[in-house]
Amino acid sequence: MNRTKILAHFTKQNYGKALMSTSAQTSIAESTTERRLEHYRHLNALQNNETKPSGWEEAQPIDKIPGPKPYPLIGNTWRFFIPKFGDLYGLDLLELHKVQGEEWFKFRTIVNPILMQPRNVAQYTDKMNLVADELIDNIQFFSEQNDKGQMPDDFNHELYKWSLESVGVVTMDKHLGCLKRDNDKNSEGQRLIQSVLQMFQLMYKLDVLPSMWRIVSTKNWRKYVEILDYMLHTNLKYINQQIDKIESGEIGDQNEATSVLQKMIKIDRNVAIAMSVDMMIAGVDTTGRVLAAALYYLSKNPEVQEKMRSEALTLLKTKESPVTHEVLKNAPYLKAVIKETTRLAPIAIGNLRTTAKDLVLGGYQIPKGTDVLSSTLMLCTKEENFYKATEFLPDRWLSTTTGELSHKNANPFVFAPFGYGSRSCIGKRLANLELETAVLKIIRNFELKWPHEDMVFTTTTLHGIARPLRIQVKPLDY
Ligand code: HEM
Repeated sequence: MNRTKILAHFTKQNYGKALMSTSAQTSIAESTTERRLEHYRHLNALQNNETKPSGWEEAQPIDKIPGPKPYPLIGNTWRFFIPKFGDLYGLDLLELHKVQGEEWFKFRTIVNPILMQPRNVAQYTDKMNLVADELIDNIQFFSEQNDKGQMPDDFNHELYKWSLESVGVVTMDKHLGCLKRDNDKNSEGQRLIQSVLQMFQLMYKLDVLPSMWRIVSTKNWRKYVEILDYMLHTNLKYINQQIDKIESGEIGDQNEATSVLQKMIKIDRNVAIAMSVDMMIAGVDTTGRVLAAALYYLSKNPEVQEKMRSEALTLLKTKESPVTHEVLKNAPYLKAVIKETTRLAPIAIGNLRTTAKDLVLGGYQIPKGTDVLSSTLMLCTKEENFYKATEFLPDRWLSTTTGELSHKNANPFVFAPFGYGSRSCIGKRLANLELETAVLKIIRNFELKWPHEDMVFTTTTLHGIARPLRIQVKPLDY
C-alpha cells in the first residue's frame, strides 16, 4: 500500500499517526501483534500464577453474589426446563466458541485485517443491493397473494434465505439463488439454510440441555456431524473453484479487486476453509433474526417508520435507486433504527468470558476459570440504564438528541450487541452493511403494519422472535 492511500484513510484525530512513514506504522503494528501473541503464548503461566489481586482479601466470596445459585452436579441446567427464568445472572453453561488462546489469536491476526477493513466489506455493496432487491421482489409477490398484503407464516424463513444469500456472496464468492421462488426443497441453498438452523437447535440440545453425547454417540450428535459435513463439503466445493482460478492465473496478485475469500485463500487455505464455514454458521441466523426484529419494531411503531421513510425518500430518489456507500454515510436514522433493534432484541443475550486470572469485580472475588456473563439483554432493558427502556425509540441514538433520552446517559459497556474487545464479532461490518441495505430498501418500497398481538421473543442459543412474522405490507406507489 502506498503512502497516499494511507493518508486518505486517516481522520483529523489521528493526523499525527498519518504523518508517520508506512514502515514505522508497520513495525508498530507488528510489535503490538508480537506483544499480544506473547500474552496468549504465556496464558498458561498467567493462569498458574497464584498471586491474588489487590483488594482480594476485603472482597466478598463469589457465592455471596445475589441471584440464582447452581446446584451441585446439575449446576444451572434445571433452569432450562422451566419456561421462564428471571434475571439471567448465574447461568454458566453456554460455550460460544471452542478455539482459545494462542490458536485463536493467530487465526484472528490473519482474518482481522481482511474482514474488519471497511473497504474490503464496502466492495460488497452492489451485491448486497442485488440480494436485497430479490427479497423485495418476493415481499411484493407475497403481498399480492391475499387482500391484506399479509406475509406468509414462513416469512421468517424468507429472511434466513436473504441472510444466507448475503453471507454466501462473501464466504463462497457465490450467488446461491436461495431467494428464487421456484427453488425446490432439495436445492443447495435450501439445504444450507436448513443445515444452519438445525445446527443451532442441535447446539442448544447438545451444549445447553443435558445430553449424553460426550459419553455415547447420540442421535442428535450424529445429526450434528452430518450437518457440519454437508456445510463443509459445500463450502469446499466453492473454495476449490477459487483456488483453481488462482492457480490458473485467472485471478491476479493480491489487490483491491480480489474478494475476501480470495484474500484469505492467498494467505492460508486452511484458514479460508475454516473461516468460510464459521462465517456461514455465524452469519445466517444472526442477521436474519435482527432483520426480522427490525421489521417487527418498524411495523409496530408507525411514527418511527414514517421518520425512517422520510430519510429513505431523501436518500433513494426512486424505489429502484441503489444503496451506495455515500447513501449509508448520510443515514443516521437508519443506523439508529438498527442499534435500537439490537438494544431491545440482542441476538446474543450477553457477552461471556472465562476469567484467566483471579479478579475482584464489583466487590466480589472472582476466581480464575469462572464464566462471567455480562447480560446485554437484561442491562439494556433496565430503566436505570435507558430512559423508557422497553420502548422502541431510535432517536436516543442520534447525536442531536440531548436530555434524558440520549444514549450518552448509559454506561457504554451496557450496549454491546457485537461483543467487546479483541474477541468481538468479526462480521460486524458485514452484518451492518447487509441490514442497512435491506432495511432502507424495504422501507423505501413498502408501508408495514402490525395489526396483531405483540410479538413473543424467546431465547435458545440465540434470542429473537418466536412467532410467525405476519407483517401486512402495502407497496408504495411513489
Ligand atoms: C447482526 C448480526 C450479528 C450480531 C448481533 C453478532 C454478534 C456477535 C457476538 C455478540 C459475538 C461474540 C463476541 C464476543 O464474545 O465479544 C460474535 C462473534 C462472532 N461473529 Fe457475529 N454477529 C452478527 C453477525 C455475524 C456475521 C454476519 C458473521 C460472519 C460473516 C459473524 C461472525 C462472527 C464470528 C466468526 C464470531 C467469533 C469471533 C471470535 O470468537 O473471535 N457474525 N458475533
